[in-house]
Amino acid sequence: MTVLDPIVVAQVDALLEGEPNPVTNLANAAALLYNSMADLNWCGFYLYSKRTGTLDLGPFQGQVACMHIQPGSGVVGTSFAKGESLLVPDVHAFAGHIACDAASNSEVVVPLVVGDRCVGILDLDSPSLDRFTAADQATLTAFAAALAKHLDADALALVY
Ligand code: SME
Repeated sequence: MTVLDPIVVAQVDALLEGEPNPVTNLANAAALLYNSMADLNWCGFYLYSKRTGTLDLGPFQGQVACMHIQPGSGVVGTSFAKGESLLVPDVHAFAGHIACDAASNSEVVVPLVVGDRCVGILDLDSPSLDRFTAADQATLTAFAAALAKHLDADALALVY
């Protein structure tokens, strides 16, 4: 299985340079990642809404997905509640996994932290079991940090 090339970290930084709209930046970040990794069926963001207290579907690539996830629920909500990245080799073995797309078999999630605030979760799904490596997880963590520098949390809060 191919490992995610760390060049995506520099690519996302260059791609988003000068663009102030956070939704625009999240959309292109999802597209960049989705097209940089083989064997994905979903890649995108869940963004925390202070209004509803839920993680709401953000820009993504893939099949239609669950629109609201409670903090603490599923892989995404667990990652948000714990403030931790999670590597899930077999989603069927993860208690409470939310099956948005029946094709998903493995998943990796990374908190998206802007300043000191976790604004949401980066989520990638694969139809293959054990698709993601610790090296992928590390690159995705660096990707989320590079992306976060191009996100205005106050502008994002106007939408989510
Ligand atoms: N599987 C996730 C739900 C989101 S979809 O994968 C796009 C979860 O358990 O939180």
